Amino acid sequence: MSNQYILVNPQIAPFVAHIQLNRPKELNALNLELMLEIKQALVELDADDSVRAIIISGNERVFAAGADIKQMAGRNAIDMLKIDQFTTWDSIRKTKKPLIAAVSGFALGGGCELVMICDMVIASDTAQFGQPEISIGVMPGAGGTQRLTRTVGKVKAMEMVLTGKFIGAQEALNYGLVNKVVPVEFYLTEAVQLAQTIAEKSPIAVQMAKESVLKAFEMPLQEALFFERKNFYMLFATEDQKEGMAAFVEKRKADFKGK
Ligand code: CAA
Repeated sequence: MSNQYILVNPQIAPFVAHIQLNRPKELNALNLELMLEIKQALVELDADDSVRAIIISGNERVFAAGADIKQMAGRNAIDMLKIDQFTTWDSIRKTKKPLIAAVSGFALGGGCELVMICDMVIASDTAQFGQPEISIGVMPGAGGTQRLTRTVGKVKAMEMVLTGKFIGAQEALNYGLVNKVVPVEFYLTEAVQLAQTIAEKSPIAVQMAKESVLKAFEMPLQEALFFERKNFYMLFATEDQKEGMAAFVEKRKADFKGK
């Protein structure tokens, strides 16, 4: 499929794919078409055995300045219900492979929400995160009130959602919104390195581990522990488990095949 608003590199490094939001003049505003392109790209990359981790980035100035305000401005509630744009986001959330956000500049509104759908976040020291929807008469709609609150806690989430105030990279790090902050020139290479570290592991174990971690946000503890246990046992059906444990015993590096 040819994309208008994103660039897809299926091999930015071995087993690592890169999706770059590419609507720079509009600060990567997330119109419906761009989100559909991300969704479709992720479906394809998820099905591609040569991909084990996926990076999503913008450019140095901006990750994404949120949903496309100009596209939404004239809509009424029934239009919004009919379009139901966030079903696209539900599909993105279901990506099985690990998603790493590489963030430089603004990650606002839907941009911040897209970052929070990702599993890990590398930020440049210029990154700014915010949920400024309140300043345009609405509120976050793509998970911001929920994922931000679960990540940074109630009072900080309230402050960000009710004032629209941005926070910088260091504060985002302190609040657990990002994994690491690096100088701007390294934010993408750092994300690639993180993705490569994960790509060296068993891709089946990585996917099951991701699925299990996410259950911590969706299930009561007892059920989630049970879910985790089943996934753990299931991994003993893989060749990768045999290879990983044999490599440990034989004091060599494991060569995981994803089988
Ligand atoms: N939608 C549409 N266009 C946008 C946009 C957005 N979210 N953000 C920026 N743009 C456009 C601007 O209109 C401008 O276009 P023109 O040159 O045609 O005028 C261009 O991008 C450059 O933007 P600025 O001139 O405003 O750049 P700046 O450096 O002065 O400011 C900014 C940068 C602080 C990010 C500012 O653009 C801004 O506040 N953007 C909107 C942020 C926002 O409110 N996001 C939330 C959107 S709603 C949402 O996301 C809902 C949800 O939950 C999914």
